[in-house]
Amino acid sequence: MEVQANLANKKLKNKEHLLVEKISALWYNIYSLRGDVMLDNKLGITNEIELAKEEERITKIKALELFDTNKINEFEVGTFKGLTDIHKYLFSSIYNFAGKVRDVNLAKGNFRFAPIMYLEEALKKIDDMPENNFDDIIKKYIEMNVAHPFREGNGRSTRIWLDMILKKELGKVVDWSKINKEEYLLAMERSPIKDTEINILLKNALTNKINDREVYMKGIDTSYKYEGYNTYTMNELDK
Ligand SMILES: Nc1ncnc2c1ncn2[C@@H]1O[C@H](COP(=O)(O)OP(=O)(O)O)[C@@H](O)[C@H]1O
Ligand SMILES: [Mg+2]
Repeated sequence: MEVQANLANKKLKNKEHLLVEKISALWYNIYSLRGDVMLDNKLGITNEIELAKEEERITKIKALELFDTNKINEFEVGTFKGLTDIHKYLFSSIYNFAGKVRDVNLAKGNFRFAPIMYLEEALKKIDDMPENNFDDIIKKYIEMNVAHPFREGNGRSTRIWLDMILKKELGKVVDWSKINKEEYLLAMERSPIKDTEINILLKNALTNKINDREVYMKGIDTSYKYEGYNTYTMNELDK
């Protein structure tokens, strides 16, 4: 009798436990859906599609300016400070969060990026990660993606940041136009568990045309395409 009561009790506890887990997962999903909510912006735009177009147009012009004025070469390389400067340069005329560490938790697919509680600490550790060879640099890039320090625009700014490290340490950059969107996103999704796929994709796309304006412009277009922005080309915006 007592044994049965104990068993029943255990089963109930298990159910309670599962329920609590389910509820917290649900809360997490609702919370991270904020990632899909339209962002407050400085342009006063209230339509999501219009905002996406203007964001693309304005930040692509900024990306071109970053190259043409040589400002990109004044930023720190391989540090969060350097990444912050890139992010701020691209996004500050649109979003208040430009260059600022996010204050919400974020997830994509099944992956939860670093919880805000540990973010500062993670960023300090990433700054100290070595850049001695290609593999080191890719590991650092993956960790920065796991940190995902900004509310939005991590992908686009971190790819520029990665190129600056590769340029400084290896005299190479990635020719992003050689990397297919689906393959790239799958490899990034996989990267926190296994970095082989992204490592190979990026290695095969390296070029020594490190100061080539065309390579840079095509790279930005591709980087934006990965994130679903393809209304304007860098060429069209080059006046
Ligand atoms: N499931 C995932 N797991 C890990 N990283 C991911 C996943 N999905 C996307 N990413 C990475 O996140 C980037 C997009 O982050 P986001 O902040 O939205 O950048 P952007 O605003 O430039 O689009 C992608 O380019 C990719 O590198
Ligand atoms: Mg995005």
